[in-house]
Amino acid sequence: MDVISVIRTKRDHGRLTDEQIDWVIDAYTRGEVADEQMSALAMAILLNGMDRAEIARWTAAMIASGERMDFASLPRPTADKHSTGGVGDKITLPLAPLVAACGAAVPQLSGRGLGHTGGTLDKLESIPGWRALLSNDEMMGVLRDVGAVICAAGDGLAPADKKLYALRDVTGTVEAIPLIASSIMSKKIAEGTGSLVLDVKVGSGAFMKNLDDARELASTMVGLGTDHGVRTVALLTGMSTPLGLTAGNALEVRESVEVLAGGGPADVVELTLALAREMLDAAGLKDADPEKALRDGSAMDHWRRMIAAQGGDPDAALPVARERHVVTASATGVLTGLDAYAVGVAAWRLGAGRARKEDPVQAGAGVELHAKPGEQVTAGQPLMTLHTDTPERFAYAIEALDGGVTIEAPGTSFEADPIVLERIA
Ligand code: URA
Repeated sequence: MDVISVIRTKRDHGRLTDEQIDWVIDAYTRGEVADEQMSALAMAILLNGMDRAEIARWTAAMIASGERMDFASLPRPTADKHSTGGVGDKITLPLAPLVAACGAAVPQLSGRGLGHTGGTLDKLESIPGWRALLSNDEMMGVLRDVGAVICAAGDGLAPADKKLYALRDVTGTVEAIPLIASSIMSKKIAEGTGSLVLDVKVGSGAFMKNLDDARELASTMVGLGTDHGVRTVALLTGMSTPLGLTAGNALEVRESVEVLAGGGPADVVELTLALAREMLDAAGLKDADPEKALRDGSAMDHWRRMIAAQGGDPDAALPVARERHVVTASATGVLTGLDAYAVGVAAWRLGAGRARKEDPVQAGAGVELHAKPGEQVTAGQPLMTLHTDTPERFAYAIEALDGGVTIEAPGTSFEADPIVLERIA
């Protein structure tokens, strides 16, 4: 097999054969196909697409590049959730212990943030002592004892994707639906979960900016999961405004604990419960009542045990940034827009996110919102507080917010979009 003919096939709008796909993924993982050759192929795929059968074979080849986990020995059904990433998307934190409290086992292999979207592992690492890196045996132990584990995916899981994702990140080829779908689903199928709920974000703060693209991504992923025997459902959910009132690592942990304590912002609670119901349904636990598990403290109890099992102290004070700056409303009226992308970039610039994989993040940095779209605001009232350890970042973060806040005349009517836009099963 020769890589140039594979690249030419896709460059010239052709279909890759099963043999070409199997060979190129394997040869790239082994280092026989060079990064520059794979990046040419990734760009050809971005420009010319792949059909469903090609995507299925590409996904299977990425799964076959590494190990597969097996949770068959667990006494509970497994259920996992994956979000395509957004601003203030801390849902995994309350969701995993909540679903465990309702009787499922939740093996949540999560990632770090890159760019304007946050990462679950970065958020949890703001809890003193908490460890993201677990061996497979440790992961199984936490799952068996607590019912939920949130940790980094091991190096053995879909190594082809690890290499290819890092390459796409630096070659402008992340935003290809076939490559996103196969990347996410190869890891989830190799992880071995029995059921999977996908939270496909739509809007300015998401990869998918419009409903048509989100539908296409969601239905491709649902098809891949189903073909591999994983009960898979997708919710399309809004990401034009940040979720909840915080974007930043420790800030989002604090908000998640509020949800587990029975409080928290209404949108975070609503989405957490919607995803929990889908996960429990897919796991065959239709009678479980996640609302009760939030009310009666059992979800909080599972959170505390899950954090402690990974070395964290659930009672420790969370890190707080050294410096704050309050952004005020420029006019009196109705707040009709708070752009998720602008807030995400501001949080990132304050130090909550990283520009390169190896960069550190500031645990206390981020944006705290004091108003959400639909609320009346008065000129001069605090709209948000910016948090950072490095005050020279404030000007840069404020610049990111330019044009991201819309205030219209008093009395302007405003109707918020529903949080769950569509369901694809
Ligand atoms: N998340 C992934 O794991 N892969 C992608 O390609 C995009 C988001």
